[in-house]
Amino acid sequence: MRKLFARKSLELLREEMRGENRLRRILGPVQLTSLGIGCIIGTGIFVLTGIAAHDKAGPALIGSFVVSGMACIFAAMCYAEFASMVPVAGSAYTYAYATLGELFAWIIGWDLVLEYTVASATVSHGWSHYFQNFLSIFNLSLPAAVARAPFDYDPVAGAIISTGAVMDLPALLIAGLLTIILVKGIRESAGFNTVMVAIKVVIVLLVIGLGAFYVHPANWRPFAPYGYTGISFFGKTLFGMTAKGGEPLGMMAGAAVVFFAYIGFDSVSTHAEEAKNPQRDVPIGIIVSLVICTVLYIAVSAVITGMVPYDKINIDAPVADAFRQVGLPWAQFLVALGALAGMTSVMLVLMLSQPRVLLAMARDGLLPRSFFAAVHERFRTPWKSTILTGILVGLMGAFIPLRILAELVNIGTLLAFAIVCIAVLVMRVRHPEAHRPFRAPLFPFVPILGIFFCLVLMFSLPSENWLRLFIWLLIGLVIYFWYGRRHSILRHKE
Ligand code: ALA
Repeated sequence: MRKLFARKSLELLREEMRGENRLRRILGPVQLTSLGIGCIIGTGIFVLTGIAAHDKAGPALIGSFVVSGMACIFAAMCYAEFASMVPVAGSAYTYAYATLGELFAWIIGWDLVLEYTVASATVSHGWSHYFQNFLSIFNLSLPAAVARAPFDYDPVAGAIISTGAVMDLPALLIAGLLTIILVKGIRESAGFNTVMVAIKVVIVLLVIGLGAFYVHPANWRPFAPYGYTGISFFGKTLFGMTAKGGEPLGMMAGAAVVFFAYIGFDSVSTHAEEAKNPQRDVPIGIIVSLVICTVLYIAVSAVITGMVPYDKINIDAPVADAFRQVGLPWAQFLVALGALAGMTSVMLVLMLSQPRVLLAMARDGLLPRSFFAAVHERFRTPWKSTILTGILVGLMGAFIPLRILAELVNIGTLLAFAIVCIAVLVMRVRHPEAHRPFRAPLFPFVPILGIFFCLVLMFSLPSENWLRLFIWLLIGLVIYFWYGRRHSILRHKE
């Protein structure tokens, strides 16, 4: 039992950092921040704002972004503290290994597969949707057989239905293309990401600057048509209104949906091993990218809800459609371009982060080392697991209906954030003397508030997600007891 909770000491982690066969240290603060922004702005703001404003929050969507952003800022400060203490590739997985022990570390590592691999497959669907939209501007279209996944989940019938298509080819192709860039090297990946980030940030600024001229303050009234709450506990609404289907409505319910828009700032911590000065630059990358995106999100949501009455906001392409509704169809084209660039970089960085977590797990013996810890001689990238991640993302994107899995991404990521906040608390108590180049301020309030906000958002998601999360974690536990526990290096050392 004691061995299940064996912890990696800080000394051991630091010693490992100096070891051979590490990744290439080339990232500075600007590139790290750019990777963070690359991973954050995408499907959430360009697609999910529609459902959140139209169905859940109304103009109080602005508040939803503030609440979700707060949960993330608290978690981000905890990530930053840990990243500055132990700047290694494993992110939350490593932080849990050092504080809560091996079993928790495995659980969190397995949970991060949800955040990175499953989220990128989800985003690849959005990418395909926008790509086909983009083609239609030039009167082009794909054959129906390769335009979408072969089956889908119908929420009304509660059943899987056939779509008549064979596969979603664009989703498969984008995953393949990004995998090639990722294997080539971190420099190429960061360079490509910077270009995508520049395009999307310029277009987001354009949305805000141009959209501001078309805002009618009357559209913000009533500000919270569904109320300011919408908190539920395992599917029972505690505070606020309830929709016909039983799910909660209101600003907080909107926050649980738009949380997806913030996912990704933590991925900066998985690049610690490739940072030139990780102890200073990784915390900068995490916090600056999150703050920039929070400000942009609040501004975009204010503009969109000001341009269009909330009940007329389009659910599939809310930002592009708002410009159509105010009579600027050309801006629609630019927004579609920004959305495509945004989703491309989100997928790129998520698919960049996953192999780095797997690498850390394999170095500890919890996954087969020869495969997951293989670093390419010339490119210095974890190439085998990068290709495996690419294949999984491509196949899931091409063939699987991802509606169900997408919600799993939110609950899985919130769990990871909550565990990192707990880990910071534990580490402060156990090792108050450890050198912390960055310290989360106002201790213990920041980690406690981080845990509180993450739990509120987790409970506010539809209750089936808890069941799905447990099933996912159970599968993970079976793998751990079958493989990881027997091959754990720490266990053998002990
Ligand atoms: N935050 C990322 C997005 O919105 C995952 O696409």
